[in-house]
Amino acid sequence: VHPSQNLPLVLVLEPPPVFKFHGDQLLKKFQFLKAWESPLPLDQFLTIHAHSVQALLSPGTHPVTLETLRLLPSLGLIVTTSVGLNHIDLPECRRRGISIANAGNLYSEDVADLAVGLLIDVLRKISVADRYVKRQLWPSEGEFPLGIKLRGRQVGIVGLGSIGFEVAKRLDAFGCSILYNSRRKKPSIHYPYYSNICELASNCDVLIICCALTDKTHHMINKEVLLAMGKKGVIVNVGRGAIIDEQEMVGCLMRGEIAGAGLDVFEKEPDVPKELFDLDNVVLSPHRAVHSQETLMALCDLVVGNFEAFFSNKPLLTPVVD
Ligand code: DGY
Repeated sequence: VHPSQNLPLVLVLEPPPVFKFHGDQLLKKFQFLKAWESPLPLDQFLTIHAHSVQALLSPGTHPVTLETLRLLPSLGLIVTTSVGLNHIDLPECRRRGISIANAGNLYSEDVADLAVGLLIDVLRKISVADRYVKRQLWPSEGEFPLGIKLRGRQVGIVGLGSIGFEVAKRLDAFGCSILYNSRRKKPSIHYPYYSNICELASNCDVLIICCALTDKTHHMINKEVLLAMGKKGVIVNVGRGAIIDEQEMVGCLMRGEIAGAGLDVFEKEPDVPKELFDLDNVVLSPHRAVHSQETLMALCDLVVGNFEAFFSNKPLLTPVVD
């Protein structure tokens, strides 16, 4: 008998980044059933191997669908290494009493840092400047375009959860005025609240999307909202691609109806609309907001802690509560 067979069994549908950095550490604690290593189609693999599996580790990209959940009758826990839950069939989990643990607030600072970084890059044209110097255009190719000052910008934060709050703290310190939209007004927050997203946009130069993707937020940032910001408007998205109507946003950027965009997330990742590649007023990042070394170290402890809690009948460290 292989010693690892005494370890708790955890199903994984696709390789999570946490494996790359902490695979050895995790393998000492759990036995992983790796669906992607089997040549079988997923449904056959699950039917044959995963009937008794109690716990699932999800990297937050591969969907955990109703069909998948139905093939896992003993499942009691999903640990997702994401904050976002849009890849999981939540109603089915609720109905079956399957617990979920996510990354909690672990990523909030990193995501906020990237949101502010993307904004400053768009406003001050850091990536444009980088290309300008590396292509050895300095100083021969005319004037370098002027940037826009960050101080004094009216920034609308969409989703004032833990990430949105970290963004607000940072931009407050930079001298921006903060406004926000959230599922509900937060009594303890002094920033002006707008329940109507279009009204928020018409009072802002910048919109930063920090909310979760749900049925309600899908394409919430449509053409009307984008145009409401006006020609100086900049959009930053560190939430999920599908919160913005991407095609409309591309059109607005190409026609100069808004001034720029800083995007870490896209509707059909890893596909990015090709039209964006030629736009100097757009800064692109490959869904990397949470990828700092320190955070991925801490993530390993959190994942281990949640599984250990579950397998020893203790409260989860970062339970998702509806
Ligand atoms: C999250 O945690 O939701 C990040 O976007 C990474 O998926």
